[in-house]
Amino acid sequence: MTSPDLALSIDSDRLVQRLDDLARVGAIEGTTGCARLALTDEDCAGRDLVTTWMHDLGLEVVIDGIGNVVATMPHPSGRSPVMTGSHIDTVATGGRYDGNLGVLAGLEVIETVLTAGIELHRPLAVGFFTDEEGSRFQPDMLGSLVYVGGLALEDALLIEDAAGAVVGDELDRIGYRGAAPLPAAAPHAFVELHIEQGPVLEDEDVTIGVVESVQGISWTEVTLTGRSCHAGTTPMRLRRDPGVVAAQIAAYVRELTGEIGGAQVGTVGSLTLTPNLVNVVPSAATLIVDLRNTDEATLQEAERRFREFVAQAAAREGVDVELRSVARFEPVAFDGGVIDLVEQCAGELQHTTRRLPSGAGHDAQMLARVCPTAMIFTKSVGGISHNVDEYTAPEDLAAGANVLLQTMLRLTTTEFDR
Ligand code: GLV
Ligand code: MN
Ligand code: MN
Repeated sequence: MTSPDLALSIDSDRLVQRLDDLARVGAIEGTTGCARLALTDEDCAGRDLVTTWMHDLGLEVVIDGIGNVVATMPHPSGRSPVMTGSHIDTVATGGRYDGNLGVLAGLEVIETVLTAGIELHRPLAVGFFTDEEGSRFQPDMLGSLVYVGGLALEDALLIEDAAGAVVGDELDRIGYRGAAPLPAAAPHAFVELHIEQGPVLEDEDVTIGVVESVQGISWTEVTLTGRSCHAGTTPMRLRRDPGVVAAQIAAYVRELTGEIGGAQVGTVGSLTLTPNLVNVVPSAATLIVDLRNTDEATLQEAERRFREFVAQAAAREGVDVELRSVARFEPVAFDGGVIDLVEQCAGELQHTTRRLPSGAGHDAQMLARVCPTAMIFTKSVGGISHNVDEYTAPEDLAAGANVLLQTMLRLTTTEFDR
């Protein structure tokens, strides 16, 4: 291994300042969180700010047809870059670190290297990918999925949100439908820094998580249709109530996680009743069921049992049911060489480390399809994320960003040429 310059360090204050500045865009009043759902005006304003920073550093900035933005150091070699990045869209009740840390730490790594005047064998690049969260447009990781050729651009552009707004139109509206070709050329390697969003590192007092894998994700939209009627006059025997079936499904998903045990998680976080009025038995209910497991066979078993329950519960109540898969990704194992390198760099920086799988979906799981990839996690206080109270201490942000810096620098060396 080439001897690293461990003294080189990112500017922690500048990183925190940029996180603060970005968090002001779409800030949720009275909290430290933000709301920048993908392709909204707030997302656009966040994109403008980060893109300005990229230009300020003299980077070559390209925007592709799904609105991913990638900034690369000018480099005479034409060699493929070592890339980092993440997302700057948030859930509607999001924190300021989820995704944003990975993008701004990447910018910080590049600024640090440029300021130090270090000549690299291959360039560094940082990107932010469209609609990682998947809260507005399903599937999640939409931009990175298209980036690696996992979904055709023309299909992605037609995806609609719950209100009927279309990805392609929204990209045009905010001015982020670019011309860079898709699928994009594969980077040399990809490393993403992210907050853990779970409790493991804090519970075990470990500074750096070395991410080995991402668990499988299954999102199924369930549409239940019954008959709307008067809540006071309609005898119970005459009801076909999709709201009741939706509630039974939500309760069953919790029960199922207990029965399967281990790593199985399950959530109903989205549920809409129509017409959603106190004295009207609903005519329809739409919910999205989120099932995840690190093991593909067990995830399939969970899906099978869930579908069986839905069919039985709907039949009991006499409601019609339609199932639509809106996201389905198998578990992803990261590259052994990059995992080892992250662990080694963290160790050389005197940080405690722990290997772990990721419970959340990440853009890195898509990049893993086309190049050697791994991830770095930093602590999340209380394991809280997708919540305005999401918090990671500045020293942990800096620790993660410095591990990212060292890992990216090593990956640029000839030792990691393929
Ligand atoms: C993305 O944040 C996800 O894992 O749901
Ligand atoms: Mn994220
Ligand atoms: Mn998220």
